[in-house]
Amino acid sequence: MRMVELIEKKRDGESLTTEEINYFIQGYTDGTIPDYQASALLMAIMLRGMDDRETGDLTLAMAYSGEALDLKDVAPFVVDKHSTGGVGDKVSLVAIPVVAARGLPVGKMSGRGLGFSGGTLDKLESVPGYRADLSVAEFKAQLARIGIVLTGQSANLAPADGKLYALRDVTGTVPSMPLITSSIMSKKIAGGADAILLDVKVGSGAFMKTLDSARALAEGMVRIGETLGRKVTALISDMNQPLGCAVGNSLEVREAIDVLHGHGPQDFYEHCVTVAAEMLCLGRKADTLEAAVAQVTETMASGQAWEKFRQLIIAQGGDVRYVDEPDRFPHAPLIETVPAPQDGYLAEVRADEIGRVALGLGGGREKKGDVLDHRVGLVMHCKVGDKIEAGAPLFTIHATDVAKRDEAMRRALRALTFAPDPVEPLPLFYARIV
Ligand code: URA
Repeated sequence: MRMVELIEKKRDGESLTTEEINYFIQGYTDGTIPDYQASALLMAIMLRGMDDRETGDLTLAMAYSGEALDLKDVAPFVVDKHSTGGVGDKVSLVAIPVVAARGLPVGKMSGRGLGFSGGTLDKLESVPGYRADLSVAEFKAQLARIGIVLTGQSANLAPADGKLYALRDVTGTVPSMPLITSSIMSKKIAGGADAILLDVKVGSGAFMKTLDSARALAEGMVRIGETLGRKVTALISDMNQPLGCAVGNSLEVREAIDVLHGHGPQDFYEHCVTVAAEMLCLGRKADTLEAAVAQVTETMASGQAWEKFRQLIIAQGGDVRYVDEPDRFPHAPLIETVPAPQDGYLAEVRADEIGRVALGLGGGREKKGDVLDHRVGLVMHCKVGDKIEAGAPLFTIHATDVAKRDEAMRRALRALTFAPDPVEPLPLFYARIV
């Protein structure tokens, strides 16, 4: 088989066979297929798409490109969650400790930032010492001991996704349904999940810009999960503005800590409650969503979720003093709040642009292997629908130098639209697919 023929076939809109897909995934994982050919095929898939059979084959090939975890000896029923990626999405940092604190083990393999969207691992690594590279043995031992793991793909768990994810991030091949589906579902399968809660984002700050495309992605992932014997629920949630206020790695960890302590932005808190409650239902810890919501709020209010988060940080080598006293997180040298230029109602936020602002400040990667600055980002002070007076704080930029700060201020301001008349606030969720 020749890789160039696969590229040409997909370029011309044909389907790839199971053998061809396996050939690509094996070759790219073991290094015999170079990045430039893999990039070309990814772009062809992005432009031409894949049918359900190809997407299923790609998912399985990626899931079994390394070791697949069997967690039955440490946890009888494992529930996992995954977001399709958004701006300010730090839900895992709160929802997973809540669920684990209810006695439902969660062993999650998360991703890094992708395009304009942030990644849970990058956020967690702003805690000095936090290790996101657990071996399979460490993963299982920690899950058995404290019921919570938040790590990256190790070299031997879905390694194909680890490599493809990094390549897609820098080749403009992120927003593709088959590539997102296979990336997410392969990780979940390799990670040994019995049930999966998918948070499918839709809007300007998501890879799916329309409700129809988000629904198609959600339904496709639920179908693939079912075919592979997993229980899957998908929520379609709004990403037409950042979730919560903070966008940027350590800024987001601090906001998650606030919510774990019962403070923080209401939209982010409510989103976490819903996601955690859905996970408890999937894990059969509650019969109804209402009962699950009551469990979640109690677990957060009692401090058990916070205690579980601390256990996670300690278990993975993080310096717990930083989460106990978040003022220890280093601050960016330049912190500047931008006031509203006019009276009005906030009508629109280009959340993808806000994500790019954080990236441009150094909070994300422009190319593979870039080192992040965990201090930088921005904090929004208003939500769509808010009435704003000229001069009121709109957002605060955390930057390392004047040129980057000024560019971020200009760009973030251009990402906001004001209207003279009242504007409806945005909903948190649009649909639930089971
Ligand atoms: N999250 C993933 O893990 N993969 C994607 O492709 C997009 C979001």
